[in-house]
Amino acid sequence: MKERIFSGIQPTSELHIGNYLGALKQWVELQNNYECFFGIVDLHALTSNSYEPKKLQEQILNVAFDYLAAGLNPKKSVIFVQSHVPEHTELMWLLNTITPFGELSRMTQWKEKVRIPDKDTRILIEQNNKRISKIYKDESELNKNKDLSQDKLYRLLSERVEKETLLPTILYNLIRANAGLLNYPILMAADILLYKACVVPVGEDQIQHVELTRDLARKFNNTFGQTFPEPKAKITEAKRIMSLSDPAKKMSKSDNEKSCVFLSDSPDKIKEKIMGAVTATSGGNESPGVANLFTLLKEFSGAETYRKFHEEEKSGKIKYSELKEQLTHAIIDYFADYRKKRAKLKTSEVEKILAQGAKKARPIARKTLKEVKEKMGLI
Ligand code: TYM
Repeated sequence: MKERIFSGIQPTSELHIGNYLGALKQWVELQNNYECFFGIVDLHALTSNSYEPKKLQEQILNVAFDYLAAGLNPKKSVIFVQSHVPEHTELMWLLNTITPFGELSRMTQWKEKVRIPDKDTRILIEQNNKRISKIYKDESELNKNKDLSQDKLYRLLSERVEKETLLPTILYNLIRANAGLLNYPILMAADILLYKACVVPVGEDQIQHVELTRDLARKFNNTFGQTFPEPKAKITEAKRIMSLSDPAKKMSKSDNEKSCVFLSDSPDKIKEKIMGAVTATSGGNESPGVANLFTLLKEFSGAETYRKFHEEEKSGKIKYSELKEQLTHAIIDYFADYRKKRAKLKTSEVEKILAQGAKKARPIARKTLKEVKEKMGLI
């Protein structure tokens, strides 16, 4: 029997080359050796900043077009829309009840979205306390001979504490944060566990969520009896593609236009974006922007060309404009087939594939959910 795979992409915009190299490309290869389920995870997309109800259906279709044009084959893989299989949300609630809040609050993606520094709580509190002591000392020194009232001094101090220390801002962000953002990894765990998937091919940013899924599977098994395999993340060499305009950040759908090359970009657009990629160096080391272009070159031009440019870089003869030109052509060529396939796909045909996918996924989802509910004493 083949092992099972589950993975998914949010329909928040067109797919970019980061999504392709981290996830979609390996899915296309894996569908020959595994029993694959690939979701368009629309329920996750509701937590995104760019979510607009009127655009969601179009975006779901866009992702389906991208899946198919990039090489997913509905004869080999089950391709479906997450919300068409309502068991995902039901299992999510059940898993909610065994998920520690502490684990969720440690997720890097949650911290990034709520803008909490990715540090240990104890370190944050220590730093904060140090800053408060410093502010207190400063103000006492400054106001030594001024005979201020307690009230006035207190106000001066608390104004500075609010502006200059982290905790008030964190508290403010936390209170306003959408609970869906916090619980999002539980929905992801439900996606994976519903199909008892063993392997989860994703980019680097999702590894932590897969680890949480493993923890939840183990906890469920220990509490209610053996039910789920503990799934493992599967990553590629190009597991983290960086933004073209700010290479300190990962390439992301929610970033500006120039930072991403979308699979559906025209050759002119690809050229404009790659030629405009930031390569600035600081010090003598290879800059993160250049390192990123090299990663892309290896993926799209192959090892030979990659080596040639690397040699040139070592001997100091490299011209980055030439590297960018080479990369531009490589990407344009690489996706030529994809563009042709995409242009030929018809909406009605794609909708049919998604409906068939949900029909295949549902009985498996129902079976797992029934087993879970029995074990939890609900039936
Ligand atoms: P999402 O939609 O943000 O990204 C989809 C996939 O693309 C990968 N990826 C990248 N890989 C390399 N470099 C990048 N710059 C880059 N940006 C994105 C992601 O790692 C991911 O594999 N929560 C998930 C979707 C999801 C899911 C699941 C995945 C929901 N349920 C169950 C696996 C299993 C997400 O938001 O991915």
